[in-house]
Amino acid sequence: MAAGRLTFRNITALAPMVRVGTLPMRLLALDYGADVVYCEELIDIKMAQCRRTVNEVLDTVDFVAPDDRVMFRTCRKEKDRVVFQMGTADPDRALAVARLVEKDVAAIDVNMGCPKEYSTKGGMGAALLSNPDKIEAILRKLVSGVSVPVTCKIRILPTLEETVALAQRIEKVGVAAIAVHGRFKDERPRHPVHCDYIQAVAQAVSIPVIANGGSLDLVKTYEDIEEFRRATGAASVMLARAAMWNASVFSSQGLLPVERVMEEYLKYAIRYDNHAFNTKYCLCQMLRDKVESPLGKQVQAAQTNAEISEALGLQEFYRQTEEKLQTRREAVQSSSPP
Ligand code: FNR
Repeated sequence: MAAGRLTFRNITALAPMVRVGTLPMRLLALDYGADVVYCEELIDIKMAQCRRTVNEVLDTVDFVAPDDRVMFRTCRKEKDRVVFQMGTADPDRALAVARLVEKDVAAIDVNMGCPKEYSTKGGMGAALLSNPDKIEAILRKLVSGVSVPVTCKIRILPTLEETVALAQRIEKVGVAAIAVHGRFKDERPRHPVHCDYIQAVAQAVSIPVIANGGSLDLVKTYEDIEEFRRATGAASVMLARAAMWNASVFSSQGLLPVERVMEEYLKYAIRYDNHAFNTKYCLCQMLRDKVESPLGKQVQAAQTNAEISEALGLQEFYRQTEEKLQTRREAVQSSSPP
């Protein structure tokens, strides 16, 4: 895909995933062939308190909370491909956050599908689905207020007609694309995905529809991505769990052994100083039923990226990378004014 304004037609995307969609996973998915990568949902209230800082040691841009936690870390390599997903129920706050990040991301997405309580309380996520006026107000504000494309991600409504009507209303606001997770609000991830609903939306709107929800039963390999796209008649496909379990699902070269994917993931986690708990969480998701294996137990017992590196036999990579980062830290310190 050529650089420039991001388009959402004929792409494969890494879906937004809380805790999973941090920088190492996004870079890994891009390496394997994903065209677009969504960050984890970030809540507008928390983001609005963040300050933007350039991290010269890591060569990243960090959005840092008042308690010094990095809420969102990004870098040049993903700038034209990363979609910032927010949880919001407030048009003004949504715009403030979108403006804070718009220079550093390729598009802004609003989560309208998450049924978890942390999202729906306060009217965010799937709660928005029953408030189309609010949806319209948020999207309208964003579309007219930022220079990057705006998208949203919905779940399906109880009937085909309602789902199509909502998608058409969203299209009219001027969003660049709409991701449709083909499950009802109350359905769990193990339930089969409703391809017919996604198809009905794809036929009813002219903006690109990104089909989502196929990981469990339909998409296990790269070839399945195209099958899922065809089955839904969508322009594009977005993968969450299939990518979380093995990000090489995006690769046209075929699936890599998960141990190899874990190593590549860990290298990015070390290089970008990812929080060890987050690194561990993602590696455990990749291990799936092997999480109680000797390797799984070692990863679970590790408390730092150094210990995780030992578990995966990457001590030497860890040592060399830390050495480089330390040299940069010293250079940055000595060049900054007292
Ligand atoms: C999710 N999902 C999700 N959706 C969203 O819009 N924002 C988010 O932050 C998250 N977080 C999240 C975390 C984890 C660990 C999972 C597994 C899922 C939902 C996800 O994007 C997707 O809609 C569903 O998982 C269905 O797609 P798959 O898994 O069938 O490809």
